[in-house]
Amino acid sequence: MLQKIQQTAEWIKQHTSSRPHTAIILGTGLGRLAAEIEVVDAFPYSEIPNFPVSTVEGHSGRLVFGRLGGKEVMALEGRFHYYEGYNMKEVTFPVRVMYELGIKQLFVSNAAGGMNPDFEIGDLMLITDHINFMPEHPLHGPNFPTGPRFPDMSEAYDKEFLQMAREIAQEKGIKVQEGVYLATQGPTFETPAEYKMYHILGGDAVGMSTVPEVIVAHHCGIRTFGISIITDLGVEGKIVEVSHEEVQKAANAVQPLMAEIFRSLIARLPE
Ligand code: HPA
Repeated sequence: MLQKIQQTAEWIKQHTSSRPHTAIILGTGLGRLAAEIEVVDAFPYSEIPNFPVSTVEGHSGRLVFGRLGGKEVMALEGRFHYYEGYNMKEVTFPVRVMYELGIKQLFVSNAAGGMNPDFEIGDLMLITDHINFMPEHPLHGPNFPTGPRFPDMSEAYDKEFLQMAREIAQEKGIKVQEGVYLATQGPTFETPAEYKMYHILGGDAVGMSTVPEVIVAHHCGIRTFGISIITDLGVEGKIVEVSHEEVQKAANAVQPLMAEIFRSLIARLPE
């Protein structure tokens, strides 16, 4: 595994002169940010040795190197979800490669169902913490030398980045919520009873991604920041039928605001 990761990182280093310290995983809702990256080099996943190949229709997936907010960035256009059939080592492989490439901070976004009764569709939620309800742990197996066997998780989401994001939101008049992201394996959305249970357990939003990547990044000492777009509500009395199309539509509507927070945050990072 380690050999594969290093081989992939080596291939990337040979194919781009870009050496970013910041990586972005463009989940649902960050497509717009992708369009703002001044692309220097881009590689379809299918060209990168050992990279998983995205199964989502119409999305081949690309790894992009370029500039955003005046900084060098690398961006994954298309993430790997557990529900697609990948195992957790595959889901988090790109994050391992990021570490080998010298990435110091990772920015992620996702679409999620809101369970906190104060939330509304279209809200942005700064992720303050998470609950890992996925069936397989990304660090299962022999420990990687990037971090300890039993990693601390007391600050999985970097407090300094959270504070910067709050300040940016306030300066720009963007309404943001804050809360705990609970990750399930999907691909089903929740039954009303499940939304209720996940809320009782401490989740403010529920989704099918992000947590595996954040755990591995944290184990590698990469600082992480994440935002969820609340695309539907899992709140008693407000639950209606939900589809992937509606999730995408709701995410699209607030993309510009989310992109603004990410871009401003990246612009304020030290080089
Ligand atoms: N549940 C799980 N994942 C989701 C949801 C949801 O309600 N909305 C968007 N992704």
